[in-house]
Amino acid sequence: MNSLPIIPETAPFTLEQRAWLNGYLAGLFSRAAAPDLPAAKTSSSATEPLIPLTILYGSQTGTAESLAKKAAKDAGRRGFAAMALDMAQTDVSRLVAEKNVLVIVSTYGDGEPPDSAKALHAALGNEDAPSMPQMRFSVCSLGDTNYAQFCQCGKDFDARLEKRRAIRITPRVDCDLDYEAPFARWLDTALSALSGITPETSQAAVAIASPATEAIGAQTLPVYSRKHPFPSRVLASRMLNAPGSAKQVHHIEFDLASSGIAYQAGDALGVIPQNCPELVDDILAALGCDGEEAVVTPSGEGTSLRRALIEHCDLGKPSAELLRLYPGCHEPHHVIDVLLGAQTDRRIRPEEFVRTLRKPQPRLYSISSSPKAHPGQVHLTVGAVRYDAQSRCRKGVCSTFLTERVKPGESHAGIFVHANPSFRPPPADTDAIMIGPGTGIAPFRAFLQERRSIGGRGRNWLFFGDQRSATDFLYREEMTELHANGLLTRLDLAFSRDQTEKIYVQHRMLECEKELWAWLEAGAHVYVCGDASRMAKDVDATLHAVVERAGGRSTETAAAYIQSLRSEKRYLRDVY
Ligand SMILES: Cc1cc2nc3c(=O)[nH]c(=O)nc-3n(C[C@H](O)[C@H](O)[C@H](O)COP(=O)(O)OP(=O)(O)OC[C@H]3O[C@@H](n4cnc5c(N)ncnc54)[C@H](O)[C@@H]3O)c2cc1C
Ligand SMILES: NC(=O)c1ccc[n+]([C@@H]2O[C@H](COP(=O)([O-])OP(=O)(O)OC[C@H]3O[C@@H](n4cnc5c(N)ncnc54)[C@H](OP(=O)(O)O)[C@@H]3O)[C@@H](O)[C@H]2O)c1
Ligand SMILES: Cc1cc2nc3c(=O)[nH]c(=O)nc-3n(C[C@H](O)[C@H](O)[C@H](O)COP(=O)(O)O)c2cc1C
Repeated sequence: MNSLPIIPETAPFTLEQRAWLNGYLAGLFSRAAAPDLPAAKTSSSATEPLIPLTILYGSQTGTAESLAKKAAKDAGRRGFAAMALDMAQTDVSRLVAEKNVLVIVSTYGDGEPPDSAKALHAALGNEDAPSMPQMRFSVCSLGDTNYAQFCQCGKDFDARLEKRRAIRITPRVDCDLDYEAPFARWLDTALSALSGITPETSQAAVAIASPATEAIGAQTLPVYSRKHPFPSRVLASRMLNAPGSAKQVHHIEFDLASSGIAYQAGDALGVIPQNCPELVDDILAALGCDGEEAVVTPSGEGTSLRRALIEHCDLGKPSAELLRLYPGCHEPHHVIDVLLGAQTDRRIRPEEFVRTLRKPQPRLYSISSSPKAHPGQVHLTVGAVRYDAQSRCRKGVCSTFLTERVKPGESHAGIFVHANPSFRPPPADTDAIMIGPGTGIAPFRAFLQERRSIGGRGRNWLFFGDQRSATDFLYREEMTELHANGLLTRLDLAFSRDQTEKIYVQHRMLECEKELWAWLEAGAHVYVCGDASRMAKDVDATLHAVVERAGGRSTETAAAYIQSLRSEKRYLRDVY
């Protein structure tokens, strides 16, 4: 088997040029190696010139990034010199020269772009942005229909490129959380349109849907993924809060032995949740069923109604089909509200009801262990979500599955690794500033374990905060030990409810703004993890304030400084 030629990092090219050349070589290589590839099919003859293609991605938690890299590989096999390019690594002036562009972008916040896409999104929206009539493009947007501004960022890129007179070669596709099949169809159609051939839809879709295996050493192991989660045994689960806390955050350990699953510090773990049996009892009562009725699950498996409702169905947001079965139900929060608010006497049959339900959606959790410190295991730090709505006590499906219902040593949960290649500890000799209140501490426990295993001269500074020092200092012993032995150069704590006025992590940042500025100027990488809606926004504003005040910059030059940290991947956020 030939090895893939690549342009080394030492070669005299820019990052972008190197990536393009590597894509070009990958294209050549794939075509030359096509006879060796199982079922690989090239759509153009070996003598045709390669078609240049830039696959531009904007990603917060790595999905769009991994799809873009996959798309670049597929395109390489289909006669393109393709490269996947992070939106943070380009700008409008460079896009003007692009001929063929595929955009894969997610949406965050309230219809906002991911951090890495912010600058390009804004620049393309400027009235004075240049025309791009030479560009052919298509957009795949990633999103989640649970959010009001579904796929808004992809819609914006689609409209803004059209406004710049770029030519849309195939319609935009907006993907919900089950993105695999629509993404595969979009890619196939777009690549076919760009190369002027008939789509290979069935082949592309099957390539994603079929279970994969991978040779590891002498063994052939299944490759576990979102579609094929690994049934992992829960090894341990312990509460991190002391009695009297208002919170319930658990440290949970999963067994990876024999799975072949690999991960890196910074990745997230996907967990397939199971529903609460009491909620299922309420649904069975409302349906007038005992749970033993035979039904077919949304994945096509025959089982009892109770088992289907616990393991195979999403009992959260009701589908349009369910609302049609129960007309007149106003503003339901969850499936149970539709049944309880039903204004119909018609008895719905169990199989008819189950047909209206979706498969359970996985939840992501930032991994809180390093595989170097805990080989064969993966750890999470999960806060139980509970709240009241419409006079009913609600439990977050997955967080209470993990914190209440799994039994260490007995229970299994379906898990998979969700790679987040952009969110990694810095090089060993580079400083890290980590800001992670609440469950936001999770990836930084992993970073610190990783940095302790690797060694190096990089300093580590952790800002942690939660409600009360006595009950909510998550991983207190580990963190104070790391501080005492010097791996944590600084540990700044903000307990918000230990005094009358609120003290948050950003207040601690301002107290030591000069030192923070000195770390930034010395090349530190800044990481933020935890609550997206309030904390991450306030911390961002504080970072701007630190650069203005301690760095003596104007508001505009401070904003440019922070933007350059983003482009250099020195300011990274894992927020939710
Ligand atoms: C990349 C990433 C990393 C993450 N890492 C972690 C982590 O390390 N630890 C962690 O604990 N979580 C983490 N999360 C969050 C996690 O994925 C889940 O969202 C969380 O556990 C809630 O899921 P659930 O199934 O328990 O709740 P769900 O059943 O999904 O319910 C949550 C929903 O309930 C609603 N809701 C919640 N509170 C209220 C309220 N007060 N009033 C009205 N409605 C409300 C909201 O619509 C919310 O979206 C992460 C998320 C992402 C995307
Ligand atoms: N998307 C989802 O489905 C989902 C699910 C679960 C959790 N979350 C988010 O994840 C977050 C993490 O939850 P958590 O319980 O671990 O921690 P948290 O609620 O973020 O609380 C951690 C600490 O941050 C403080 N805080 C509150 N507002 C802040 C702000 N604007 N700036 C800085 N700090 C602030 C809190 O103080 P006070 O409480 O005293 O104000 C507390 O001391 C939640 O806030 C929630 O928004 C999202
Ligand atoms: C905090 C948060 C906010 C989100 N906001 C939106 C939104 O406003 N609209 C939407 O369609 N999807 C939203 N999503 C869903 C993401 O776009 C979706 O999960 C996507 O697949 C993530 O892709 P990425 O990993 O490449 O960033 C949100 C997800 C999170 C965690």
